[in-house]
Amino acid sequence: MQVPKSCKVYTPDILASAVVGALGDKPNDLWLEPCAGKGAFLRALGRIGVPPGRLIAVDLDKRPEETDRLATTIRGKEFLSWSLSTRRKFSKIVANPPFVSFKRLSNRMHDIASRLDCSWAGTLTRKSNLWIAFLRASLSLLEIKGDLGFIVPAAFEYADYASALQRKIHEHFGVFEIHRCRRPLFDEVQDGCVVIIGRNYGVPNRQTVRYEYDSANQLIDALNHGPKSSNVRALPSRPKHDSGKISFSKIFRIRIGCVTGDVKYFLLRETDRTRLGLPVGALLPVITRSRHLRTEMLNRAYWTRLRNANERIWLFRPNERYAQFQYVRKYLRLRRTKGGCNRRNLKVRARRVWFRPVLPGKPDGFLSGTAQSGPWVCLNQFPRLSATNTLYCVTFRKQLSLNDKAAWALATLTSKFRKQVGKYLRTYPDGLVKIEPGDLARLNIQKPPRKFGAINIYRRAVKLLIANRRAGAEGLADQWFL
Ligand SMILES: C[S@@+](CC[C@H](N)C(=O)[O-])C[C@H]1O[C@@H](n2cnc3c(N)ncnc32)[C@H](O)[C@@H]1O
Repeated sequence: MQVPKSCKVYTPDILASAVVGALGDKPNDLWLEPCAGKGAFLRALGRIGVPPGRLIAVDLDKRPEETDRLATTIRGKEFLSWSLSTRRKFSKIVANPPFVSFKRLSNRMHDIASRLDCSWAGTLTRKSNLWIAFLRASLSLLEIKGDLGFIVPAAFEYADYASALQRKIHEHFGVFEIHRCRRPLFDEVQDGCVVIIGRNYGVPNRQTVRYEYDSANQLIDALNHGPKSSNVRALPSRPKHDSGKISFSKIFRIRIGCVTGDVKYFLLRETDRTRLGLPVGALLPVITRSRHLRTEMLNRAYWTRLRNANERIWLFRPNERYAQFQYVRKYLRLRRTKGGCNRRNLKVRARRVWFRPVLPGKPDGFLSGTAQSGPWVCLNQFPRLSATNTLYCVTFRKQLSLNDKAAWALATLTSKFRKQVGKYLRTYPDGLVKIEPGDLARLNIQKPPRKFGAINIYRRAVKLLIANRRAGAEGLADQWFL
């Protein structure tokens, strides 16, 4: 079995020491490091006097490391299968487990993972990740009243595949701490920003605290000297779906906008188009930014204003006929160094015709997952218009009149709808705050009353929203629903 390159991200010594220090050592403790790597945790344990006889280290990598002598080291061993065969239990477990998508793992690994204990932490599907399997395997080897310190990706707090684990893990420890660093803890990766510390395994939970830090140094300092109360933050909540209401996905089909694979090449401004001599027929009108959603109705006139303001609103996507036009041919053949397409990009290579990005169907509306004003449906009245993947496209599941469409769009402006959004917002390691399409699809939406005039109210409410008068917009929408 090969060790995926991407998982060889090694823990800095000061962080390993801080995690070990947070757990502390007792004379009878038996320690486990399930993926020793270059031995950052073994060095840290050696420094506090844990002898090799009280420390088992495993790693799939066969190559010996100088630190192997600090533990009873088992190399060339796959940890998940080892966890199923060993009879030993450990009082302390520390790790920075490999982060590898299950999609990239062999069927054999899927099979082993399906036999792991602690199924309360969620099933290990193709969407899951190896770090969760490591955590489940480690928990099954942890003694009652034992302690665990794991470095996990920020996905622990927001990924769907980690939601069961994130909701339940604290229940299994007397005391559970989540230490979240807003910046990456490792130079090599954007992720890896949470340290979880569980104490007193198997004892009813009496305390769960979540801390947040601006830097790795602050996090390390808190593990070494105890966190400050000013770093305490609310636990992220994942509300359960209220089955009595209609979910957004019952009314709207939601898709991510078109993925180009090379934004600079495919998305053009009007000045680019004229400079390159490209005919209008070789391009498609698109919107590409959440700031383009500053109207209640996206029609040709509004899009023309964006074009005249020289926004990026053209998607290069010639059909067979236009691909034969002189200047289109020239653009298609342009070298990458001269502004041509990066055809090595997987998204471009994977397409049947590399210069025809796949479109998300005919959108009835658009929506931004990152808009400061929150997500709301902006209706589309320009039949050829599409959007790129910074935006979401929605289509109604049924054929509706414009009044009915406006009424449903108005439902996304009510306070009830918008209150739910906050609970689903995810903060990514780079600070981006966003609601994902899957979460949007789960939100409850109010069924509009059967009355005329929705278009008018929708127009007025959107105008208020755009003028930053959010409360006014919500008030108007709420009144319509009374
Ligand atoms: C992220 S590195 C961490 C290494 C070390 N724990 C540290 O903190 O520096 C992950 C390690 O897991 C090992 N690994 C990957 N898959 C494994 C598996 N299935 N069983 C055991 N070790 C594995 C890799 O060889 C690598 O050394």
